[in-house]
Amino acid sequence: MTEQDVLNALKGVKDPELHRDLVDLGMVKDVRVGSGTVDLTVNLTTPACPLKAQIEREVREALTSRLGTGIEIRIHMGAEVRGKGLAEKGDIKGVKNVIAVGSGKGGVGKSTMAAAIAYGFKMYGSRVGLMDADVYGPSIPHLVGASARPMARGDRILPIETDGLKLMSMGFLLEPDRAAVMRGPMLHGILTQFLHQVEWGELDYLVIDLPPGTGDVPLTLAQTLPLTGAVVVCTPQAVALIDAVRALSMFRQLKVPILGMIENMSGEIFGQGGAKRKAEELGVPFLGEVPLQVAIREKGDAGVIRDALADGAPSRPHLLAIVEKLAGQISVQNLMAPKFPKLEILN
Ligand SMILES: Nc1ncnc2c1ncn2[C@@H]1O[C@H](COP(=O)(O)OP(=O)(O)O)[C@@H](O)[C@H]1O
Ligand SMILES: [Mg+2]
Repeated sequence: MTEQDVLNALKGVKDPELHRDLVDLGMVKDVRVGSGTVDLTVNLTTPACPLKAQIEREVREALTSRLGTGIEIRIHMGAEVRGKGLAEKGDIKGVKNVIAVGSGKGGVGKSTMAAAIAYGFKMYGSRVGLMDADVYGPSIPHLVGASARPMARGDRILPIETDGLKLMSMGFLLEPDRAAVMRGPMLHGILTQFLHQVEWGELDYLVIDLPPGTGDVPLTLAQTLPLTGAVVVCTPQAVALIDAVRALSMFRQLKVPILGMIENMSGEIFGQGGAKRKAEELGVPFLGEVPLQVAIREKGDAGVIRDALADGAPSRPHLLAIVEKLAGQISVQNLMAPKFPKLEILN
């Protein structure tokens, strides 16, 4: 038996989300055939893969049915987050995926979700950055309990690090209680600096918290770098969904792929299921629901939004399910052919 026999035996075993052969996707690595043993590594496209156990089982079944039962099969499950493969103008060196979190209006929990998603990716073992693009109303520093001043190294800006996340926000640059008063061109300059002058290092995911609505910032972002895609956060009631649809329309116009919608604050007060139905109607992935829970608000207020994902927290299963679904959509987006046409990147 050779390594090639092992790879042939795996023909037809597909990634359940990407619908393509594991071998063709280059996910099967380090095949070693010994006497009576086969060792191999399956490198998933994200550590936040909920289908890990299923994939491992299918690989084992394919190998035992085609190679016989007398062989000891040792499968090592690993993960390596992928980017889109080809370098493009505007890419941030070392950053594989840039995900914008937007909404049609404020107060829907967009910053809370952006921070929770960043912590979620981190918990699965990915390298994560969180950039606050809400220049006029930065709230990321408060949510994660960070209040340092970024340092410069030469012409590079060093991000603030908290809980292993790399952070940048206008909130780190302004005096507390000071408003950022500026016009469009200055805003453009700040965002460009946040993206291209901050020393993000090697990141699997850079999550960007957008300001509410369909203004200057998303436009500037879409023109400054190729985004992996956007997430739209909304609340369940019909009135709020109108704004969410507007945000989706904006991302479509900006040629930013839509990774999915999140329904936040779902429950008795605002209702439930509205965003899911809307997502289905519009052919957009639905990433999940987060209930309206006092604890989420309290953790955000106390600067420990990471605790919303802690063991035993009632919000944890909801948030992790969203993170897994989103990670899957990012992998799908990166492997999708033909490539999504992009807005022309300026400068
Ligand atoms: N699922 C939730 N349950 C309870 N409170 C929430 C939830 N999501 C967000 N909040 C609270 O709602 C308020 C607005 O959230 P925020 O993330 O700042 O919204 P946005 O960034 O969309 O303006 C905050 O006080 C936050 O703690
Ligand atoms: Mg916000």
